[in-house]
Amino acid sequence: MAQIFDKGTLLALKVGAFIALLILISSILAWRWAIDYPNAMNAPVNQPVPFSHKHHVNDDGIDCRYCHASVENAASAGMPASEVCMNCHSQLFKDAPMLAPVRNSVAHNVPLQWTRVHDLPDFVYFDHSVHVSHGVACQSCHGRVDTMPLTSQVHSLQMQWCLDCHRHPQNKLVTPDKIFTMQSTEIKTSATDQSQIAKRYHLPDKIRLTDCSSCHR
Ligand code: HEC
Ligand code: HEC
Ligand code: HEC
Ligand code: HEC
Ligand code: HEC
Repeated sequence: MAQIFDKGTLLALKVGAFIALLILISSILAWRWAIDYPNAMNAPVNQPVPFSHKHHVNDDGIDCRYCHASVENAASAGMPASEVCMNCHSQLFKDAPMLAPVRNSVAHNVPLQWTRVHDLPDFVYFDHSVHVSHGVACQSCHGRVDTMPLTSQVHSLQMQWCLDCHRHPQNKLVTPDKIFTMQSTEIKTSATDQSQIAKRYHLPDKIRLTDCSSCHR
C-alpha cells in the first residue's frame, strides 16, 4: 500500500499529537487546581470597589457587626447593603469615582456583587453564630483583617484545620469582650481568662465536635 504521508510529515504529526496531549493534560491540571483552590491564600481578589478593612476597621474604628450584622445570630456573617456604605459616603467622598458602583447600586436598587474571599464546598456545614457565641474570635479564623488593605484568606479552611481546633478548642477561646477585637499576637486563652472561660462556655464534648455528621449533614 502506498504511504499516505512521507516520513517527515509523519514525524511532525507525532510531535504535534504529543504536544496537544501535553496541553490537554496541563489544562486539566490547571482546571482542577482552580476548583480546589479558588482563591490562592493570601492573594486578594478583585472587587467592584477596592474596600479596605485597614482603613475602616483600624483607622476609623468601625465594629465588624456594623457591616456583618448577622454574624452573632446566623450561619452567615452577612454582607453590608450599599445603603450602609452610604450612611457615611453620601457625605464623605461623595463624588469619588471609586465609589460610583456603590452609588449606582443604591440608585438602581441592585446589590453590589462582592467576590467571595472564603468559600467552603457545599457539602460542608458551617455556622458563624455557634462559634462567635462560644468564644471563637474572628481573628482565629480570618487573621488580622484590620491590617488588610484588600481582604485575603489566611488559613486553609481545610478539614484538618477545622479539626485541629475542634480537638482542643479550650486553649483557643477568648472572653466575649475580645471576640471582635484584633490582637497583636496569635489568639491563645490567657491564664487569667481560663477559669472564666471554663465557667462561661459549655462546649459540646470532643466526640461531637469531631463527629463527621457535625460538619457533613
Ligand atoms: C464598613 C463595613 C465593614 C466593616 C466595619 C467590616 N467589614 Fe468585613 N467586609 C466588608 C465588605 C464590603 C466586604 C467585601 C469586600 C472584601 O472582601 O473586602 C467584607 C469582607 C469581609 C470578609 C471576607 C468575606 C468573604 O468573601 O469571604 C471577612 C472575613 C470580613 N469582611 C471580616 C471582617 C471583620 C473580622 C471585621 C471586624 C474586625 C470586619 N470585616 C469589618 C465590610 C466591612
Ligand atoms: C461609618 C462610616 C463609614 C462607612 C459605613 C463606610 N465607610 Fe468607607 N470610608 C470611611 C472613612 C472615614 C474613609 C476614609 C478612610 C481613611 O482614609 O481612613 C473611607 C474611605 C473609603 C474609600 C476610599 C479608599 C480608602 O479606603 O481610603 C472607599 C473605596 C470606601 N470607603 C468604601 C466603602 C464601602 C464600599 C463601604 C460599604 C461597604 C463603606 N466605605 C462604608 C467611612 C465609612
Ligand atoms: C471558626 C472559624 C470562623 C470564625 C470564628 C469566623 N469566621 Fe467568618 N468565615 C469562616 C468560614 C469557614 C467562612 C466561609 C463560609 C462558607 O464558605 O460557607 C467565613 C465567611 C465569612 C464571611 C463571608 C460571608 C459568609 O458568611 O459566608 C464574612 C463576612 C465573615 N466570615 C466575617 C466574620 C466575622 C466578622 C467574624 C467574627 C465576628 C467571623 N467571620 C468569625 C470562618 C470563621
Ligand atoms: C479556633 C477554633 C475553631 C475552628 C478553627 C473551627 N471551629 Fe467549629 N467549633 C469550635 C467550637 C469551640 C465549637 C463549639 C461551639 C458550641 O459550643 O456549640 C464549634 C462548633 C462547630 C459546629 C457545631 C457542632 C455541633 O453540632 O454542636 C460546627 C458544624 C462547626 N464547628 C464547623 C466548623 C468547620 C466546618 C470549621 C472549619 C471550616 C470549624 N468549625 C473551625 C471551634 C472552632
Ligand atoms: C469540623 C468539621 C469537620 C468534621 C468534623 C469532618 N469534616 Fe470532612 N471536611 C470538612 C471540610 C471543611 C472539608 C472541605 C475542605 C477540605 O477538602 O479539606 C471536608 C472535606 C471532606 C471530604 C472531601 C475530601 C477532599 O479532599 O475533598 C471528605 C470525604 C470528608 N470531609 C469526610 C469526612 C469524614 C469521614 C469525617 C468524620 C471522620 C469528617 N469529614 C469530619 C470539615 C469536617
